Amino acid sequence: MTQQTPELWKATYEATTPQELIAAYSKWAHLYDNDTLDVMGYVGPKVAAEMLDYHIDSPTAKVLDAGCGTGLVGEILDGLGYASIDAMDFSADMLSEAEKKSVYETLYQADMNETLDIPDDHYDATICVGTFTFAHVGPDAFDELVRITRPGGHICFTIRDGAYQEYGYRSKMLEMEATNKWQLQELREEDYLVKEGVTAKFCTYQVLSN
Ligand SMILES: C[S@@+](CC[C@H](N)C(=O)[O-])C[C@H]1O[C@@H](n2cnc3c(N)ncnc32)[C@H](O)[C@@H]1O
Repeated sequence: MTQQTPELWKATYEATTPQELIAAYSKWAHLYDNDTLDVMGYVGPKVAAEMLDYHIDSPTAKVLDAGCGTGLVGEILDGLGYASIDAMDFSADMLSEAEKKSVYETLYQADMNETLDIPDDHYDATICVGTFTFAHVGPDAFDELVRITRPGGHICFTIRDGAYQEYGYRSKMLEMEATNKWQLQELREEDYLVKEGVTAKFCTYQVLSN
C-alpha cells in the first residue's frame, strides 16, 4: 500500500461529477491492481467471472466487460478459455491499463449512464464488476445492458453493499423481472473486498426481451 491508497480509493466513492470520477481513476489507474488485489483482497472479478462461466459455460460466447477498469475480469475470463471479450469503460487511463493485459478484442470508451453506441443483441453475455456502486453507474444502465445482450444471453454484475440499499438497484431489478426483461438465475451475497470487510451482491440474469 502506498500512503496515497486510502485517499485514491475514497476519491472514487466521493466524486460528485463524472469529471471528478474520471480524474480519480486517472490518478489510481497505475496502482489499481496492486491496491485492490493485494491490499484490499479484491475477489469480485474472480467470483463474478466464475459465476458467469457457471451459467453460460461457453468459452465461444461473445462477452462485454462493461466498466472493465484495468481488465481484472477479462484476465480471469481469458484464463477460463473465453476468447472473444470486448471491454468498455469511461476512463481512458483505466482502458489503457486494460489494453496492456492483451485479453480484449475491442476496447470502447463510453459512459454507461448514457445510451451506448452498440447495436441491439450484440453480445451473448455482459459482465459488470465493481461499477454498480457509490458515485459510479446508476440502475437505469440495466436497460442498456439488456438491450445490447441477446435474448437468452446472460448479464452478470456486482452491486456493492451499501449502494445496493441506497441507490435503487433492487427496485429496478424487480421492475425488470416484473416486466419480463430478464429472469433471475442467481443472486448471492459474497465477500468482495475481503481485507476491508466489504461484501457485495453477485447477480446473474438471463435476458428475456429488450
Ligand atoms: C471499481 S472499478 C472496477 C473495474 C473492474 N471491473 C474491476 O472489477 O476491477 C469501476 C470502473 O467503472 C468505471 N466507471 C465508472 N463510472 C462509469 C461510467 N459512467 N461509465 C463507464 N465506466 C464507468 C471506472 O472508470 C472504473 O474503471
